[in-house]
Amino acid sequence: MSLTFKVFKGDKSGAPKESTTTKPEKLTGDKVLIKVTASGLCGTDLHYRTDDMVLGHEGVGIVQSLGPDCTLLKKGDRVGWGYEHDSCGHCHQCLSGEEQYCAGRVMYALHDRDQGSFASHAIWREAFLFKIPDSMPDEDAAPLMCGGATVFNALHAYSALPTETVGVMGVGGLGHLAIQFAAKMGCRVVVISGTESKKEEAMRLGAHEFIATSGKTELKVTHSIDRLLVTTSVQPDWSQLVPILSPGASIHPLSVVDGNFAIPYFPLIAMAFTVQGSIVASRYVQKRMLDFAALHQIKPVLEIFPMTEAGILESMDKLEKGQIHFRAVLKPELK
Ligand SMILES: NC(=O)c1ccc[n+]([C@@H]2O[C@H](COP(=O)([O-])OP(=O)(O)OC[C@H]3O[C@@H](n4cnc5c(N)ncnc54)[C@H](OP(=O)(O)O)[C@@H]3O)[C@@H](O)[C@H]2O)c1
Ligand SMILES: [Zn+2]
Ligand SMILES: [Zn+2]
Repeated sequence: MSLTFKVFKGDKSGAPKESTTTKPEKLTGDKVLIKVTASGLCGTDLHYRTDDMVLGHEGVGIVQSLGPDCTLLKKGDRVGWGYEHDSCGHCHQCLSGEEQYCAGRVMYALHDRDQGSFASHAIWREAFLFKIPDSMPDEDAAPLMCGGATVFNALHAYSALPTETVGVMGVGGLGHLAIQFAAKMGCRVVVISGTESKKEEAMRLGAHEFIATSGKTELKVTHSIDRLLVTTSVQPDWSQLVPILSPGASIHPLSVVDGNFAIPYFPLIAMAFTVQGSIVASRYVQKRMLDFAALHQIKPVLEIFPMTEAGILESMDKLEKGQIHFRAVLKPELK
């Protein structure tokens, strides 16, 4: 007996196509069948829109049935999942709560290309699912599964202090959540954006200072930045950012882009900067992020689209042009 469900795959035309995935009907181990109720569209999905794989990695849905080894979830629970679907469970990284760096990590785009969150259903291990706090609607939870987790991780896993000035560069899906998380953690938040157009909204989300880069050769801030989260979809001009960083500042490049990281070398050593790469979040950090977001009512600013071929194409085209305000979420019940 098998189970067939609807999925949306990338296509070489760039217009995602509806398709199906078939799995054995009997769930084994700690596998959980989920009916998708919302999915965020992340900047990283754009890299795969022409690949023959199921798109989407900011999933939220309702548990339909469970394998024999499940112990935590029950039918009807609301759960979410993100970029990572499995890891070995016994290496150094897994044991120290950094399973996103496990050599055996199972991640979006690299594995499980027959499943994703642009779909009617998906089957994942219970161990890599997150219960959604009751106060959080499905569409608000979805963008937290990757975008929210990634920026919260840069702050939490590297011990940001409330006394720090945090810079957030790029006010998109990740950036507008980073502003909220850093502000609620008590930090001073300086936003660096391409133009002045997002200023009012960035301040409303918790920013204390806003600077636009367009037309400027030199940037000026009232408080130099102790920790800079770069969430732009292209690499910034790192040399333009160096003068507004504090000695000892941490730089967190979060963008997924080709090419090398090139920063002026002498300031890096003379100002004792740290460059800290990271990808998404461990499950430990992801759970803390959900609790924190629920407590502080951190909510993404959304544009909702139907989870149809047309809805996915429109949302991806808008995201590619930098026109999404600020995270697209796809909902299956809309037509
Ligand atoms: N490290 C990780 O684990 C991880 C996880 C998720 C996503 N990512 C990556 O993070 C980046 C941001 O993702 P996102 O979902 O937040 O994307 P997004 O919503 O498109 O936001 C990106 C922002 O970058 C700025 N930008 C600067 N130059 C741009 C250009 N030429 N075209 C479009 N935007 C430009 C814009 O902000 P302003 O208008 O304010 O300048 C834009 O809002 C992507 O590279 C994504 O792949 C990394
Ligand atoms: Zn491992
Ligand atoms: Zn993502």
